[in-house]
Amino acid sequence: MKRTHHCGQLRLTDEGKAVALTGWVHVRRDHGGIVFIDLRDREGLTQVVFDPQYNPGAAEASHALRSEFCVFVEGRVRHRPAGTINTKLPTGEIEVIAHKIEVLNPAETPPFEISDDTQTSEDLRLQYRYLDLRRPAMARNLRLRHQVTMVVRNHFDELGFLDVETPMLFKSTPEGAREYLVPSRLYPGKFYALPQSPQQFKQLLMVAGIERYYQMARCFRDEDLRADRQPEFTQIDVEMSFIDREDIYAVMEGLMKRMWKTALGRDIPTPFPRMTFQDAMNRFGSDKPDTRFAMEIVDFTGDFRASQFKVFRGAVEAGGVVKALDAKGFACATQGQIEALTEAAKSFGAKGLAWIKVEGGKWNSPIVKFFNDAEKAALTAKLKIEEGDLILFAADQWGNACEILGRIRLLCAQYLQQTGKLAIPADRYDFLWVVDFPLLTFDKEQGRWMSSHHPFTAPVEEDAPLLETDTHRVRGKHYDLVLNGSEIGGGSIRIHQPDLQQKIFDVCEIPREIAESRFGYFIKAFRFGTPPHGGIALGFDRIMAILVGSPSIRDVIAFPKTAKASDLMTQSPGDVTQRQLKDLHIRVAGDEAKPA
Ligand code: AMO
Ligand code: AMP
Repeated sequence: MKRTHHCGQLRLTDEGKAVALTGWVHVRRDHGGIVFIDLRDREGLTQVVFDPQYNPGAAEASHALRSEFCVFVEGRVRHRPAGTINTKLPTGEIEVIAHKIEVLNPAETPPFEISDDTQTSEDLRLQYRYLDLRRPAMARNLRLRHQVTMVVRNHFDELGFLDVETPMLFKSTPEGAREYLVPSRLYPGKFYALPQSPQQFKQLLMVAGIERYYQMARCFRDEDLRADRQPEFTQIDVEMSFIDREDIYAVMEGLMKRMWKTALGRDIPTPFPRMTFQDAMNRFGSDKPDTRFAMEIVDFTGDFRASQFKVFRGAVEAGGVVKALDAKGFACATQGQIEALTEAAKSFGAKGLAWIKVEGGKWNSPIVKFFNDAEKAALTAKLKIEEGDLILFAADQWGNACEILGRIRLLCAQYLQQTGKLAIPADRYDFLWVVDFPLLTFDKEQGRWMSSHHPFTAPVEEDAPLLETDTHRVRGKHYDLVLNGSEIGGGSIRIHQPDLQQKIFDVCEIPREIAESRFGYFIKAFRFGTPPHGGIALGFDRIMAILVGSPSIRDVIAFPKTAKASDLMTQSPGDVTQRQLKDLHIRVAGDEAKPA
């Protein structure tokens, strides 16, 4: 039962060869006694013909074949008759005329058709994921993921990085996303935590003198899920000693270049552009700007400082800003679309969303009556207003106003794409480093400064003296890698000096005992000649989704969870026995009432 070729392999040059193939019956067609099957394996499709005139036995046996039967076929390669050549298939010029067919295993009728244009619900696909993965598109995604993994491994190996595995059973580190906890049997009432990332271990590997580390690291976060988030996901995790930001950029840009070349045959220009966090927020209203289209946000704070329109004047008086964007060609927005945009603004706490439609040479708007000539002139000049435009405003505190318009900008782009007024080529890739994030952000709820990234991120040298006096002005040596508006990675240069680390904890008002109990072992390690170091982690699943052009990372993960964090195939999470719980010293609230 040895095959001689894969189903994607045979060509016209193989004509006349005796071959053996194995695979699954993809499609079966009966043309009045002559049966054709498309035989599929992971490499492709080959047409196999069963003709009673050529081999009555095989032809007879072929009548029993059904979709997804696993079979072994022997036959001879022949040129397809004129008019039946399929130019879409690499094997489309040949067919195999069968003289033997053996059913290795029959199959029940699959719950959905194994084809790339299946309309089946994702839930059913996930329940029968092993069948879903037989679909050529899914098989291609897994193969590409493997190929890109090899690029990663080769890249880092050639640059002298060591792949080091770090523990999955870690310790709870309160800060960041919610963790998955694992109860300990040997230590009643104590828990391991699954790592949100190997952050501390990779830094400890630098203390250990490993110098260059990478890992395809599995990470676990109990977050609210979206299309680009899974509870377990894979990071390309990297850490380097004796380097600064530029070294990280260069290593990672080299990696992205190789990935795009291998996966898509594309030459990605490097170095990638860089944008400060301030600029990203001011111009695009996001720390992960999609720069594939313009529609930039413009500031009008000065222009509306003394406006008759009290919403704008009031915002400025309260220390806020007035910002606007011009959605060119979107004066045709429907009432429903304006309402949806307003709802988006309100989700950030705005009271409303002022707008102007430029139609028939006039500005239609509930608020234009409040504007004087100078204000109108400022809008016209700075936004280059033209017939057909829709202008949208946010008057709020700086961060909020930016984020509102950032969200509005993306929604407008979506609508404009639907109507064909904005075209973003599917194969456009805008890479961007976002840099100079504030090291600390003031958390109003907790009434204290907190790390924007994590407490081990180093401040930019020249800003460090401002830590206690001008905290908000201190920039961190943090960088995010953004692609087409998606955050595909982030990292930082770390603090390696214990004194500076202590100062950050102090500014964040983390009491010494708490810092000691949370990361005492970590801080202690830094007293033993820690080298200057830094690193980054890329979201591998997100990168793969972009490479295959899928909106969801579920399409590039073999066995993903649903948006509700469940596995529909294995029905996990699932129940466990009382005995298991007892061993783990766990009692589930409400279970007391149940029989033992
Ligand atoms: P960060 O938390 O920014 O950094 O994560 C790095 C990248 O991982 C991806 N990512 C996710 N992908 C899928 N599902 C998720 N739930 C998910 N969460 C994050 C994103 C993100 O940019 N230890 C630091 C890195 C460092 O400082 O070196 C870290 O984990 O693409
Ligand atoms: P009002 O005077 O509150 O009725 O608001 C007049 C217009 O301004 C309405 O179209 C509101 O949607 C809009 N608006 C209200 N608050 C804001 C705000 N903070 N930023 C932008 N527009 C607003």
